[in-house]
Amino acid sequence: MDNCSGTSSCSRYRSENAEMTAAIGRRLGEAAGSGDIFVLQGDLGAGKTQFIKGLAEGLGLDGRLVSSPTFTIMQRYSGGRLPLQHFDLYRLESVAELEGLGFAELVDDWPGVTAIEWGDRFREAMPPWAIWVNIEHVRRPGQEDAGSIRVISICRPVEGQAQEERDDDDDK
Ligand SMILES: Nc1ncnc2c1ncn2[C@@H]1O[C@H](COP(=O)(O)OP(=O)(O)OP(=O)(O)O)[C@@H](O)[C@H]1O
Ligand SMILES: [Mg+2]
Repeated sequence: MDNCSGTSSCSRYRSENAEMTAAIGRRLGEAAGSGDIFVLQGDLGAGKTQFIKGLAEGLGLDGRLVSSPTFTIMQRYSGGRLPLQHFDLYRLESVAELEGLGFAELVDDWPGVTAIEWGDRFREAMPPWAIWVNIEHVRRPGQEDAGSIRVISICRPVEGQAQEERDDDDDK
């Protein structure tokens, strides 16, 4: 599921290798603004971290420093046009655990861009203005390895409700 419904507008891209996935991320990073949130969904090894490496580069950061922060849950990178915080929620077991980390405050108070791997596991905790990035392996029948083709869908909430909620949040 790529979260594309009447309340979001999606663009779809085909990626043939890790570099292409990073290049798509880079373009989004170049255009990103303060407070933007990217929720990444896709299987293990889909390319979420590759995408975020590109996103970091688009923000003027060193993408080589970005890895899956599996054991730290969150990592921050600064020194570019905007700082990036990168969550990997794969190992978290419950929304209560996520709340215990102060997730909502970490996201709300961050002046830069936030990228969240496995955010779809805690859909209800993701801000409504988040941009959803779905990365799907294209599997061919009879092919053991998933291959390198990915379909990447980028879904932005349509202006209106989500924007209002974001503005309300800024007022707090
Ligand atoms: N089209 C592609 N896009 C992205 N990665 C690709 C592509 N083709 C092959 N790969 C390879 O797939 C792997 C993707 O790894 P990556 O760490 O980005 O996945 P992930 O979705 O973050 O996984 P995890 O859930 O374990 O964190 C890399 O080894 C990369 O080189
Ligand atoms: Mg990863």
